[in-house]
Amino acid sequence: DTWQLLAEKAKNAYRKAYAPYSKFNVGAAALTFTNKVVQGCNVENASYGLTVCAERNCIAQGVIQHSESEKLQFSALVVYTEQEKLTPPCGACRQVISEFFPKGAQVMAVNHLNEQQHWKIEELLPDAFTPYDLFNKT
Ligand code: THU
Repeated sequence: DTWQLLAEKAKNAYRKAYAPYSKFNVGAAALTFTNKVVQGCNVENASYGLTVCAERNCIAQGVIQHSESEKLQFSALVVYTEQEKLTPPCGACRQVISEFFPKGAQVMAVNHLNEQQHWKIEELLPDAFTPYDLFNKT
């Protein structure tokens, strides 16, 4: 099914992670509403604070792949690590995820043991600041 496919793609991205400092590889894969699968991995930097998480790189890949005619929205995101404790998206990623996923969509964390945990977007970041808040100025 979709979750298993995304888990495979996220595992694939995990192998490409550039994490020489933390040695904490993360892979992500997401499905768009136009049925494209996109991938991302974390990319670290010698200037540590410039690190970009797998989830945000995955969303950026969706932006690149996206064609102008429709609004970019994702229906599912998977985060893959090889940790016994499943990896949830960090706070910065929760904000970026909120911009591109409907509230009811889900994020799944999975590991090498195929253990899984699901969260709804609204659970990850309740009452998120969204484009709606910017445009609804009056
Ligand atoms: N990281 C991610 O890519 N996604 C997460 O959900 C958690 C953290 C990365 C950032 C950094 O390269 C490494 O994991 C350790 O924090």
